[in-house]
Amino acid sequence: MKKILVIHGPNLNLLGEREVGVYGKVTIKEIDEDLKRLARAEEVELDIKQSNHEGEIVGLIGASRGKFDAILINPAAYTHTSVAIRDAIAAVDVPAVEVHLSNIYGREEFRHTSLIAPVAKGQVSGFGKMSYILGLEAAIGLMKGAKK
Ligand code: DQA
Repeated sequence: MKKILVIHGPNLNLLGEREVGVYGKVTIKEIDEDLKRLARAEEVELDIKQSNHEGEIVGLIGASRGKFDAILINPAAYTHTSVAIRDAIAAVDVPAVEVHLSNIYGREEFRHTSLIAPVAKGQVSGFGKMSYILGLEAAIGLMKGAKK
């Protein structure tokens, strides 16, 4: 069975309580449940992680080579700062899909730059929980198209 690594970056554990005006009331548990439901229907396996630590995220990506067929990642604040996460994605031969709940291009200027986007297969931004669903569908589509 194809396997997808899902990574939620920093502060996403606080969803539902955190800046509700921006991110809504959805919780990480609800997002994960929806992702798992879609994964079951599509017969793919998910491994879901949340981390507030840049090095831990770098480690997860580095260890994904040979174990996972795709990565679905919301790098959260590290989107805009982390050369290390970008380099980790570039280093492994595992296609990554970047997702954001909010539309990062409609927010503060410092969020307009994603260091991750150039090394991701693509990005989904601005659709709340649906960004993750669309991102997972994209990741599954990539794997199905892949010659493996
Ligand atoms: C976010 C957008 C980032 O700018 C922010 O730092 C986050 C969440 C999103 O999902 O909209 O923590 O990645």
